[in-house]
Amino acid sequence: MEQLNTARRAAAAVLSDAGVPSPGVDADLLLCFVTGDSRAELKLRELRGENLDEAQYAQYLDLVDRRARRIPLQHLTGEGHFRYLTLQVGPGVFSPRPETESVVQVGLDFIGSLQGSRCVDLCSGSGAIAAALATELSASTVWAVELSAEAIGYTRANCEPLGVRVLHQDAAQLPVALHRTMDLVISNPPYIPPNAIPREVEVREHDPQMALYGLGSDGLRIPREVSAEALRLLRPGGMYVMEHAEVQAASAAAMLAELGFEAVTGHQDLTGRARATSGLAPLSSDRMKE
Ligand SMILES: C[S@@+](CC[C@H](N)C(=O)[O-])C[C@H]1O[C@@H](n2cnc3c(N)ncnc32)[C@H](O)[C@@H]1O
Repeated sequence: MEQLNTARRAAAAVLSDAGVPSPGVDADLLLCFVTGDSRAELKLRELRGENLDEAQYAQYLDLVDRRARRIPLQHLTGEGHFRYLTLQVGPGVFSPRPETESVVQVGLDFIGSLQGSRCVDLCSGSGAIAAALATELSASTVWAVELSAEAIGYTRANCEPLGVRVLHQDAAQLPVALHRTMDLVISNPPYIPPNAIPREVEVREHDPQMALYGLGSDGLRIPREVSAEALRLLRPGGMYVMEHAEVQAASAAAMLAELGFEAVTGHQDLTGRARATSGLAPLSSDRMKE
């Protein structure tokens, strides 16, 4: 038996010593995972001086030890939180990030109250974007497209129960039948340049390489191919929104303009960083620079 309060404090200290970025939050969330409590319930139980039983304490120590070795929290719990959703995640799939929630918001604001919209999430990973669109837009039809054989199981598990149509293929080569049919295309493609290896151990060693590196000297080779496909997929006037690194804001805007998008606009995440760029498919028929 170990008091909840004592176990949590000791875990936070271990995680802090290991350099985990948010040791207190992670100690709380792992404890919630073990007990099945929400964070609010956990605090109440701590105030009442309640204990972990022996099996729970052993499980908690093991999880804290693995987190101290910088295994991502989401891989330990098997869950990732994104907007209103709890998604299945784990090794082989990119863990969804808070900045991508703002990218989705740009698309939702564009669709507004339009009923029956058609939307596609290119490079879906866990399917976070597609699942959010399917749950937050009324009467929409949503596609999710993912190439990785390791990630596609997560895409399906998170998206298919919501009615999302999942395609296991290259997002730059979708069926011609889908061209010019979409109101909204969103993508969080791989975009990290080859010389910008991520500092965080959790990202560098546990997110799939295929989810991180965008290829080409600027990391924008895959984003360029995916953006060109996005333009082909959109109906005239439809919107494309793409996530990118803060340092890529100017090159992403130039890339979308060069491909033929109009009204190219940069967007900030909730911390004020320029992390997404959108463009509209032209209304005129000679829009494609193919
Ligand atoms: C940065 S992750 C984004 C995942 C998810 N959309 C999110 O925001 O959490 C990029 C994803 O693109 C996938 N991917 C890379 N190249 C692809 C391609 N050519 N076609 C489709 N998916 C691709 C990777 O496997 C990875 O799942």
